[in-house]
Amino acid sequence: MKNIAVLLGDGVAGEILDSAIKVLNKTAQVYDLKFNYNYAPIGGRAYDELGVPLPEKTIETCLKSDAVLLGAVGDWKYDNLAPELRPERALLGIRKKLNLFANLRPVKVFDELLFSSPLKPEIAQDVDVMIVRELTGDVYFGEPKGIIKKTTLDGREIKVGFNNMIYDEDEIRRIAHIAFKSAQKRKNRVCCVDKANVLDVSRLFREITTEVSKEYENVELSFMYVDNCAMQLVLNPKQFDVILTGNIFGDILSDEASTICGSLGMLPSASLSDGKTPFMYEPIHGSAPDLAGKNVVNPIATILSAAMMLYYSFNEKSACDSIYRAVKDVLKEGYRTRDIFQKGNELCTTNKITDLIIEKIK
Ligand code: IPM
Ligand code: MG
Repeated sequence: MKNIAVLLGDGVAGEILDSAIKVLNKTAQVYDLKFNYNYAPIGGRAYDELGVPLPEKTIETCLKSDAVLLGAVGDWKYDNLAPELRPERALLGIRKKLNLFANLRPVKVFDELLFSSPLKPEIAQDVDVMIVRELTGDVYFGEPKGIIKKTTLDGREIKVGFNNMIYDEDEIRRIAHIAFKSAQKRKNRVCCVDKANVLDVSRLFREITTEVSKEYENVELSFMYVDNCAMQLVLNPKQFDVILTGNIFGDILSDEASTICGSLGMLPSASLSDGKTPFMYEPIHGSAPDLAGKNVVNPIATILSAAMMLYYSFNEKSACDSIYRAVKDVLKEGYRTRDIFQKGNELCTTNKITDLIIEKIK
């Protein structure tokens, strides 16, 4: 029996989690697995219920579980809350509490969605990139940080905001190992993306990554500046196998890369720790409050996140593959939610596409 903590966030979270859980249950039947779900609130929902976005009980539920499935957080209605009460803070908090330093964001274009990509089909076809984003360091967590007052030379008092882009070598080393190991299961290439022409922290990132690469002789290491990478991702995304990068660059590049697949609604993610705490799985998209309750959101990113859980947390490769295959089959037959809808397709609700995917799991 595997215990899965289900962190229920905001907006469309309930709908996409329901879909993923239905798919997991079908997979459990077919592959003779047993899942038990422990629900806990997070984000705005937790704030409404308990006054804080990341309640202690939610953290405890995660720590007691074998894996964590999270449905997006955030809603405009919380925009005016103090920073520490905002839903996004819960996401950063849970990543830190569970020590989820490695965020894997696979960007794989389904042939069936080539025409939903804003890139020319010949550029988008066969793109298969794994973004390995460091997740518990960088400007996201660096100290000192804040907004303070300062006096200018001409005597005016003005505000100044700052965050610290900081990595120590242990943090770089452990994420680099994840990137190289991941490349060994793929095409044996790692591209380290940074801003080493300007930033000291990036120079250290390169130095340590180079050192770690010596342990992986069959993996080819290259370097690219992040501005160039942003361009290369749309010019020639096929050149990449594994992209290794820090927290903020990875955040930005993964949103950009996701559009290659046709929709943000297609991209799953896995966040890994050193193994002492459970891994967490979530779609890379947000909570889309404007779509909530309408039964229109694309559940595939969350369904594929559940598939990643089967692979990374439970070592159930066949079950994971069967979900990917089912999604592909459903797309092949022309069924689409509205974010990936093209003329000639059959438009589906969230529930409908979920049911179709479930039917195909075998
Ligand atoms: C992501 C999101 C989060 C991040 C936000 C919601 C805090 O954009 O997971 O990519 O910046 O990490
Ligand atoms: Mg992001």
